[in-house]
Amino acid sequence: MKSIIYLFVFSISGAIFAQDFTLPELQFSYDAYEQGIDAKTMEIHHSKHHRGYVRKLNKAVSESKLEGKSLEDLLMYASYRTLGVRNNSGGHYNHTLFWEILTPTTEKSAPGIPSKSIENAIKKHFGSMDALRKQLSVAAAKRFGSGWAWLVVTPNKDLVVSSSPNQDNPIMDVSDVRGIPILGIDVWEHAYYLRYQNKRGDYLSAIWSLLDWGVVSEKYDAALNSPLLAKIEKENWPEKNAFHKVLAQTFHAAEKGDFKPLRNMSGALYAQAILLQDSDIPKPLLKPEVSLALVRLEKKCGALNKLVGKNAREKALMKMIVAVHDIFHEVQGLCHD
Ligand SMILES: [Fe+2]
Repeated sequence: MKSIIYLFVFSISGAIFAQDFTLPELQFSYDAYEQGIDAKTMEIHHSKHHRGYVRKLNKAVSESKLEGKSLEDLLMYASYRTLGVRNNSGGHYNHTLFWEILTPTTEKSAPGIPSKSIENAIKKHFGSMDALRKQLSVAAAKRFGSGWAWLVVTPNKDLVVSSSPNQDNPIMDVSDVRGIPILGIDVWEHAYYLRYQNKRGDYLSAIWSLLDWGVVSEKYDAALNSPLLAKIEKENWPEKNAFHKVLAQTFHAAEKGDFKPLRNMSGALYAQAILLQDSDIPKPLLKPEVSLALVRLEKKCGALNKLVGKNAREKALMKMIVAVHDIFHEVQGLCHD
């Protein structure tokens, strides 16, 4: 009986601990940010919205059986995740960053100033802090609907401004600009509506006075040497992702005995293989094995397309798509070395 109770307690606690994303505490009280953001907005934003993202993220992760994956991993392969994982992993990561870079001026605190290294980088990439502020404000103001404006360290170690919709961010493989965000401005209405209503521009001015450039500078230095940046560089290969999408649609259906997608899309698969072979291979992957595998992949896809054109039997098609799949996984393996 005792062991049954232990087992029961163990499985309950196991179930709880499997959901390991938690809401971070704010460093200051909700009313400390009044100079830019009112206490009610801070409270609702943190304790309701962010808490909601964390709760829904844990649920989505559990439903997708992705427990144990790091937040960065969930973000990095967003295009392969469910919408619940994509939106809520972004929601959790983006808000955590947002809270970290905001410091109100109080008796005990004041926002830090930019370090020499980020100051030089801002000068190099934007001309001045003022020019950066303008670019960030334009990116934030122009973001249609809900989303974020970012200052990003790219794999080339450049600093760029970008924006993304909803809760997407530059770590995600769905993002046009890839890299590590070191500063993010939340432009969802829930971030400012109580005080600023539809005046997003006024909110952006107010946020500027809360930005802690000391924290942003630390994030800049950390991003430059982060293994995550190197990983993003390897994975920043849109043509490979595009090929993978068509391959997944055709191969998995064929595996289940449905050859219709393959017969309909063999031309598209061949076209993606040509684009992939002609694409710029990410710098860390510039090695002969990768180039040679891509040439073989294109040839096999061409042969597969010919077979479909000849209305070949399923057995022959299956043999060829398996060969295509094997070569692609060889490329994937080389990417992950
Ligand atoms: Fe938000």
